[in-house]
Amino acid sequence: MEAKINKTHREGAVLFSPYDAGSSIKKALEVGRENILFEVRESKIKGRGGAGFPTATKWMLVAAAKADKKYIVCNADEGEPGTFKDRVLLTEYPDLVFDGMVVAGYTIGAEIGILYLRGEYIFMLEQLEDYLISMRQNNLLGKNILGKEGFNFDISIRLGSGAYVCGEETALIESLEGHRGEPRNRPPYPVNTGYMGYPTVVNNVETLASISKIITKGADWFKTHGTEKSTGSKLFSVSGDCKKPGVYELPWGTTLNELIKIVDAENTKAIQVGGASGVCIPKSQFDRQLSYEDASTGGSIMIFNESRKMLHVLKNFMDFFVEESCGQCTPCRIGNVKLLECVERIEKGEYTFSYINSMKDLSRTMQVASKCGLGQSSPNPFLSILENFKDEIFRSKENGVSHA
Ligand SMILES: Cc1cc2nc3c(=O)[nH]c(=O)nc-3n(C[C@H](O)[C@H](O)[C@H](O)COP(=O)(O)O)c2cc1C
Ligand code: SF4
Repeated sequence: MEAKINKTHREGAVLFSPYDAGSSIKKALEVGRENILFEVRESKIKGRGGAGFPTATKWMLVAAAKADKKYIVCNADEGEPGTFKDRVLLTEYPDLVFDGMVVAGYTIGAEIGILYLRGEYIFMLEQLEDYLISMRQNNLLGKNILGKEGFNFDISIRLGSGAYVCGEETALIESLEGHRGEPRNRPPYPVNTGYMGYPTVVNNVETLASISKIITKGADWFKTHGTEKSTGSKLFSVSGDCKKPGVYELPWGTTLNELIKIVDAENTKAIQVGGASGVCIPKSQFDRQLSYEDASTGGSIMIFNESRKMLHVLKNFMDFFVEESCGQCTPCRIGNVKLLECVERIEKGEYTFSYINSMKDLSRTMQVASKCGLGQSSPNPFLSILENFKDEIFRSKENGVSHA
């Protein structure tokens, strides 16, 4: 499916509104590091990659670190099923993203930025490299950027190789270092010990693009969008059963009911918010808001209509996690296989409710005992689909009779 930018939502938009390439860098150099940090903190922006960590906190920790080198890494792995908004930013708005990286570099004191690009996005590599060349020609990259004595910064692009877990920031750093892409133990966090052991900020593509807008238009303007706790707007990659799939920019706080109207969805039964590792929300809860404090998402929205069998949807997700678990820790390596097995047994009618309950307990163990976010969140669809669609899924076993 071709991702579209819905032009009708450009009015009042944050990211999909006019921007002069280089303007956030110019402004940052004018006002200085302290004021940039202040503005980012005031904007209350949280990371757009899914975890929602306050961007200013991350930047302040690296800015304050005493080290010979520091790095800024832009996470363009975009592997969450149903997410394709970073692709649109990189192809249509590379100025916002790369300028955001330069601003970050200046603020934290880094001289090198790395764009970690999803392997499947190799088709955009040449275009992005060309864009970086034009930035160098305009002195937006390189030595003494825009005449600022001593501010040197450049960006290189590195390609991933298709593992979902390499989007996790420590696995990404391992992969950048040429190792097998497996998550590290945390602490230490990348802000202390990141790429090649140096303090590193890892930010999502959309976070860095938003920074360019915050710097040029101000934190107060940014906060006129969204809610008190979820400031600004968000890009949503909408796919599934609707007439207008694509990438939409909407303010945080938009309800699911509003969203399905915008994308022209009919007979919607369920919305998976946050990709495979997110939660599945039934129609009765479509008044919920897309926000960090309610239905949180890195951007993936999948719409399912009445014709879909939710057990099949769940099986698809669990298949994905079995395939993508890196296998380092037991709760995730074994747990996902057990949950998939459970879905298959439900399909065949070979289960008891005490078995289902024990699998729910296993899910909760995975959430707390897995080493990284993959295993901590992979039980989300299992728990939410079995809970929210129990009438459909367990229809054939009203009396709890065991087939096992
Ligand atoms: C399995 C897994 C996959 C992830 N994939 C991505 C990804 O593709 N892009 C991304 O920005 N963050 C991804 N993350 C989150 C990153 O670890 C990290 O929180 C994020 O890049 C930080 O940027 P932000 O603070 O700007 O959101 C993933 C996390 C996990 C656990
Ligand atoms: S939770 Fe899964 S993906 Fe993460 S380290 Fe453990 S096995 Fe690997």
